[in-house]
Amino acid sequence: MARAGVASRRHSESMIVAGRVKLNGEKVVSLATRVQPDSDVVTVDDRPLKASETRRCYLLNKPAGYLTTLRDPFNRPTVASLIRDIPERVFPVGRLDRDTEGLLLLTNDGSLSYRLMHPRFGFEKEYHVLVKGVPGEGTLRRLREGIEIDGRTTASAGVAVLRCTKHCTWLSIVLHEGRKRQVRRMFDRVGHPVKRLIRVRLGGLADRDLPAGKWRVLTPGEIEDLEPVAV
Ligand code: URA
Repeated sequence: MARAGVASRRHSESMIVAGRVKLNGEKVVSLATRVQPDSDVVTVDDRPLKASETRRCYLLNKPAGYLTTLRDPFNRPTVASLIRDIPERVFPVGRLDRDTEGLLLLTNDGSLSYRLMHPRFGFEKEYHVLVKGVPGEGTLRRLREGIEIDGRTTASAGVAVLRCTKHCTWLSIVLHEGRKRQVRRMFDRVGHPVKRLIRVRLGGLADRDLPAGKWRVLTPGEIEDLEPVAV
């Protein structure tokens, strides 16, 4: 299902568990069900999957205040309302917190999404972060070398000060993993709570000109450059 561009692997599994997927007319009950792509008919909500769709990738500049999900049971604003005019069914690669701004990739290619998110591939993400106070050299070293969160130390990170104001500091932080609320929790841990967080780069992909709330298509060259190399 992920390869056919229906959703990410994780979301595809929850669709199966929710009973939305049928194989040759029978509801799929096991996540381990095997499919013969040439002869089997798989449907999601009774709509047949196409064996392979053209890969589509879009870049959205997410504003603060939007959830990175396509449906919200509480009807809060989601990125779905920003991408209504994208003609294909695409889903977000990974997640930005509701109050995080910046670049969010959307694709119909589940396996690309998997490769970009899995820590094994070490796909680089850069954030600009405004924090309270002025972190000293020792604090910057701790952030770079790793901070313990939930009993696990974060992987080494690139951290640089961009500019200081009287009470706050803008920094750049480059991560190769994507744990839940990682940047916010790292800075909380060192006593500098995050006031604003913006994702400014995904691998080699940056775009300072894309207005907040707007999306654009990735060029074939940009898509090719996204392909991470396993380490
Ligand atoms: N780190 C965070 O804390 N939040 C995000 O949205 C992304 C990275």
